[in-house]
Amino acid sequence: MKRTRNIVMAVVLGATLSLAACGSDDGGGSDSSDGKIGVILPDTKSSVRWESADRPALEAAFKEADVEYTIQNAEGDAEKMATIADGMIADGVTVLAIVNLDSESGAAIQEKAAKQGVRTIDYDRLTLGGSADYYVSFDNTVVGELQGQGLADCLGEEAANVIYLNGSPTDNNATLFSAGAHSVLDKISTYTEVGEQAVPDWDNEQAVTIFEQLYTQAGGDVQGVYAANDGLAGSVISILEKNGQAGQVPVTGQDATVEGLQNILAGTQCMTVYKSAKLEAGALADAAIALVKGEDADTNGTTEDSEGDRDVPSILLTPESITKDTVKSVVDDGGAKAEDICTGEFAQYCDEVGIS
Ligand code: BGC
Repeated sequence: MKRTRNIVMAVVLGATLSLAACGSDDGGGSDSSDGKIGVILPDTKSSVRWESADRPALEAAFKEADVEYTIQNAEGDAEKMATIADGMIADGVTVLAIVNLDSESGAAIQEKAAKQGVRTIDYDRLTLGGSADYYVSFDNTVVGELQGQGLADCLGEEAANVIYLNGSPTDNNATLFSAGAHSVLDKISTYTEVGEQAVPDWDNEQAVTIFEQLYTQAGGDVQGVYAANDGLAGSVISILEKNGQAGQVPVTGQDATVEGLQNILAGTQCMTVYKSAKLEAGALADAAIALVKGEDADTNGTTEDSEGDRDVPSILLTPESITKDTVKSVVDDGGAKAEDICTGEFAQYCDEVGIS
């Protein structure tokens, strides 16, 4: 009995091995190891997410799929991104995913890639006028709606003056976030917009100056702040602190960063939006691997590129609104570590919400 099973096993193994050999010899692309995926992240400063959440999630997804990959970061420099893209293409990537720094430079990279037969994917940010085969992101209008609703929930129905601090004017997402937030807040007749400005490159330092000016122009008579992500929220909170108003004026955020979650626990930030890097990176890996194999990726909709006058096949995920009550769900999902959040003065709040 045992011997027969061993022989059967050996025959099956042998067949599998020769099949595998066939797969990699014919170069026909039936095996994901035939291709190589390149990803270029935008920077390290507009949000900590790119290096702290996206990179490890992407590495995990590519390793799990057993596909060759390379991930680099353009450090906020569009020329550097173009150089990295050239290098990756020269190095033989067959699929290139970028998080553009602005649509123009992103479109140029994609055009060059297409000329050399390299398929491209927009990761997180849509390149307007670009030529990406797919767009992988969250529903960014919904992100903005969640932010608007989150601020409204924190403010209640009383009269409130609201300042809007938007993300980079060159980031299509920032436009969608702001539009989504306005679609909710503009309907509430007791709220008055008393200032709105976009922050170039999502730069947190510039955000401090910009917000301080808006705050001063409004005579400090501000009851709520829409900040497009957790980094910008941090800049806003620093000015509110300076004016003895931190914790009195609700501020929105996005990315469920450690800093954002800590501020929510301490009560200086009203909410954030959690966009699981595991989900987004997994969706990118699936789409990229389909392209490597010469197959179509599974999509769940299209996104209109108004500049390119085309609908880009998309994989759009669902974001989640996070408040103090639900910070624990981010930790439970692996989006942030309790040991990172529950440090120093924040440890006391972790006990309150059951994080340890
Ligand atoms: C992303 C946000 C991020 C921001 C700054 C946006 O395009 O969707 O998650 O906070 O860029 O990097």
